[in-house]
Amino acid sequence: MKIIEVNNLTKSYGTNHVLQGVNFHAQSGEIIGVIGKNGAGKSTFLEILMTIKQYDAGTVIVLDENIASLPMNRLEQIRKQISVVLQPTQFYKTLKVEELLKLFKAYYNSNLDIKKIIKEFKLEPHRKKYFDKLSGGWKQIVSLAIVFLSEPKLLILDEPTTGLDPHMRNMLWTYITDYNERTGGTVILTTHNMDEIELYCDKVMLINNGMNEVFDTTESILATGYKSIHEFYLKKVSI
Ligand SMILES: Nc1ncnc2c1ncn2[C@@H]1O[C@H](COP(=O)(O)OP(=O)(O)O)[C@@H](O)[C@H]1O
Ligand SMILES: [Mg+2]
Repeated sequence: MKIIEVNNLTKSYGTNHVLQGVNFHAQSGEIIGVIGKNGAGKSTFLEILMTIKQYDAGTVIVLDENIASLPMNRLEQIRKQISVVLQPTQFYKTLKVEELLKLFKAYYNSNLDIKKIIKEFKLEPHRKKYFDKLSGGWKQIVSLAIVFLSEPKLLILDEPTTGLDPHMRNMLWTYITDYNERTGGTVILTTHNMDEIELYCDKVMLINNGMNEVFDTTESILATGYKSIHEFYLKKVSI
């Protein structure tokens, strides 16, 4: 199955030509990091893959379907197999953490055990708290725990670790890699933390000046003589 195949993708906001010919593909089971400076077009790119943003030209295939030519009902079927992290602010303020998890478990028709999720995401001390009263980092962890209830084929995460402390970040990555190994699900995410790319991603795409300036395995990038992905980024991208 073609999880994602993107050819010559372009997208402008008025005269701001954000994506000017991006080529990208993702196979089943890959973990791919998308990097680039603020405003490079990472979120725009991910939103196009999520099928929630219009693009101007090029081909975008998601889960074997060309999304440009799909009727609404087929598009909805595709969307059901993709999970994305929702903005925490959209959650019901009146629900407690455990209630939220139960609600989404029912919504996704998930077989996963809520108790196990609570344990794995270290949510025990927070399970009876209102979502609204959690700190920013814990809100994010709960949002991510919810995403994993759906066991998606394709998981798209926009800066999932921004604002998380090192333990939270480690916990999240443990869960991402475990989900990936257990289900063979594909993960595409953005991050500004180059260590995460080096440690956990199979491939990396650098968006620079509207193009996928680099799209390669982290291994082959490091094999070309960079000490780290961090060094690679600093050398490739000007301020
Ligand atoms: N809805 C929008 N309308 C107009 N301009 C936008 C919109 N969304 C993003 N942009 C602009 O597009 C560029 C890329 O934004 P974005 O995809 O959010 O980049 P990144 O996620 O890499 O920081 C930025 O210049 C941003 O201001
Ligand atoms: Mg962004």
